[in-house]
Amino acid sequence: MNAADYQSFADAWESRATIRTRPRRVLENDTRLIYPLSRQPLVLSETFLRECPEQRDFALVQTLYKFINDVVIFETEIVDKTARSIAKNRFTVAFPFACRYDAMTVVIDEDYHALVAMDFMQQTVAMTGITPIELPDEIELSRAIPAAVALAPEHLRSAVELICVAIAENTVTGDVAAFAKDDTVKQSIKGLMADHLLDEGRHSSFWARLVRIYWHTASEADRQCIARILPVFIAHYLTNDLQKSFDFRLIESLQISDAARRALKSEVSGLAFPINRHHPLVANIVRFFRSSSLLDSPCVQEALSDYLV
Ligand SMILES: [Fe+2]
Ligand SMILES: [Fe+2]
Repeated sequence: MNAADYQSFADAWESRATIRTRPRRVLENDTRLIYPLSRQPLVLSETFLRECPEQRDFALVQTLYKFINDVVIFETEIVDKTARSIAKNRFTVAFPFACRYDAMTVVIDEDYHALVAMDFMQQTVAMTGITPIELPDEIELSRAIPAAVALAPEHLRSAVELICVAIAENTVTGDVAAFAKDDTVKQSIKGLMADHLLDEGRHSSFWARLVRIYWHTASEADRQCIARILPVFIAHYLTNDLQKSFDFRLIESLQISDAARRALKSEVSGLAFPINRHHPLVANIVRFFRSSSLLDSPCVQEALSDYLV
């Protein structure tokens, strides 16, 4: 695909963007869960069920706060930054005006997603009276993107940033989708996820098309250089350190014995996924490499061989 073939999605944005179409969602005070059990396996562990099952909702509320905090960082510090520099034509890779306009709609959507997430944070605090424990000031991408960009020569830095953000935008979509389907969870939370998902469908194809346009113009030498950086990015992106230190802080905040705390920490330590093709996000990442055409290049196939089935 060439830059000249780019078709704007501005009409779809006008008629379907959640900021254009959705009323405010209000958290309901019912007996459904505020966060899916399957996404906080700590509360399903043997020790938790034996020692403190009554603290399940506290743990789920804190995990929702962590999720919201991650969304706000992702939207405002990662995607907003890259989309905004494309919109403002400050990106080393030049894109036509239609791309820049669409990039600006991504900025608006992401900042709106951050606002909606913050609204749910304040609604949840008001309803439950539970205030957040210390939340991280970074997400995995806060480290993974700078680590990847630092490996690129000057002229490829924007391209690497673009590809990293595109990978991330194509990965979270599948992740949020699982959430929106869970019937044990409060309607408003599912609605929040479904709204977000609707916008992200547009974003994931936007980023994939931009990467396609870029890749088409890249020289073989540049492609090989970027291909060598991709596994470094993925390894940082899939690490479990931040989740694990959050889970440890959450365990510290539970009202339980020291022995139970130790047992929970060791159970949580065993939950990390391996950083290879068996990691649950890898299928989404590989799908992006196909849709963006990167995987057509032998150098990318070779660099990613650990992740390909
Ligand atoms: Fe978003
Ligand atoms: Fe997005």
